[in-house]
Amino acid sequence: MVIKKVSRLKGEITVPGDKSVSHRAVMFGSIARGTTEITGFLKGADCLSTIDCFRQMGIDISVQGDQVQVHGKGLRGLKKPSQILDAGNSGTTVRLLSGILAGQDFTSEITGDASIQKRPMQRIITPLEQMGASVSSQKDNGCVPLTIQGGNLHGIHYISKVASAQVKSCVLLAGLYADTPTSFTEPSLSRNHSELMLRHFGAQVASHGTTATILPDPCLEGRKIIVPGDISSAAYFIGAGLLTPNSEILIKNVGINPTRDGILRVLKKMGGDVTLLNSRLAGEEPVADLLVRSSELHVASIEGDLIPTLIDEIPLIAVLAAYAKGTTVIRNAEELKVKESNRIDVMVDNLSRMGAKISGTKDGMIIEGGHPLHGAQIDTHLDHRIAMSFAVAGLICEGELTLQGAECVNISYPDFYQDLYGLSE
Ligand code: S3P
Repeated sequence: MVIKKVSRLKGEITVPGDKSVSHRAVMFGSIARGTTEITGFLKGADCLSTIDCFRQMGIDISVQGDQVQVHGKGLRGLKKPSQILDAGNSGTTVRLLSGILAGQDFTSEITGDASIQKRPMQRIITPLEQMGASVSSQKDNGCVPLTIQGGNLHGIHYISKVASAQVKSCVLLAGLYADTPTSFTEPSLSRNHSELMLRHFGAQVASHGTTATILPDPCLEGRKIIVPGDISSAAYFIGAGLLTPNSEILIKNVGINPTRDGILRVLKKMGGDVTLLNSRLAGEEPVADLLVRSSELHVASIEGDLIPTLIDEIPLIAVLAAYAKGTTVIRNAEELKVKESNRIDVMVDNLSRMGAKISGTKDGMIIEGGHPLHGAQIDTHLDHRIAMSFAVAGLICEGELTLQGAECVNISYPDFYQDLYGLSE
């Protein structure tokens, strides 16, 4: 895929549904009793993997456009899958589903594609084993394929070394099947969609600072779920609108949950002209329309508790930093190394190919902004967030930028390129 420079971007766009919320709606709907009706569902490859896994466990799920109906069978209604469950490229599927599988009285296996087979699963194996499940990594490398023998779980208070919504959600979901309450404490607050949505389904979940506690054995009831637009997808349009001269884009219905809105806070500090309009609630989640206008950017610090609130946006932020005035230092983001690709190495390699002054550190990157960038061959490593970040860089750099493996945007945003070019004049 060749990305070319555009003169300006103008118009209105609605980005697809939030990936994290879409996964959770299907999962929680499956273990609730009765029908869950989801609107705004993201039909990306990752969330379709979640649907496939639950269909294999006997849940009837129908999909029509962005409307999904899940006919849940209650906490103990899943049937033993006849084959190994396939999570595809989706870390959220493996980690959250493992928490549910740990509570079942059958043995199951779960695996995924080449990228997921390298991602760390010890972070969920340890707490699930402490709760009493038996979870083994078939290759003994702390990765999938996993074999999970569930049942007879005990409540624990788990103190996690990493701030991770996937690990937190895994432990809380297993906690639904435990004999006493389960708590999870993390170093900084990660996204709280599970806590909000589990409460909506009828679970008792308390949140105090960075600790969440769930009571076991609730009666979860099918619900209506409205999925907000994904701020992680909107981020590319925000970035494109800020960097492309004379641009103005209205991005409608974007989720602005405070555990996800770090990108907005950073852009404000960087001098980005982003106005929130029509702030409202869509179901359990806050949303707004975002009006973005071209801006001159300068540096801001990106570290500490802010990191989990913008973790998936850091590749895009690195592109913005390459165009900003001054030197940006991103710290405390070692989690980037274990995403769909090693996002520190991949950003340093690809931005360097474009002529940026960037170096990787043990937990982030240092980017000296303001050097002109030129087109290059970009290796996406089949990581959707890398592909979309460089598609934005390609709109403003001099010369042609080629994306290898551009189709990986299917994971979270199948129509990404059409939508992006649809705004160009
Ligand atoms: C997600 C949590 C984050 C994020 C991922 C989706 C979720 O991962 O990077 O894209 O849906 O819970 P971690 O929990 O590993 O930080």
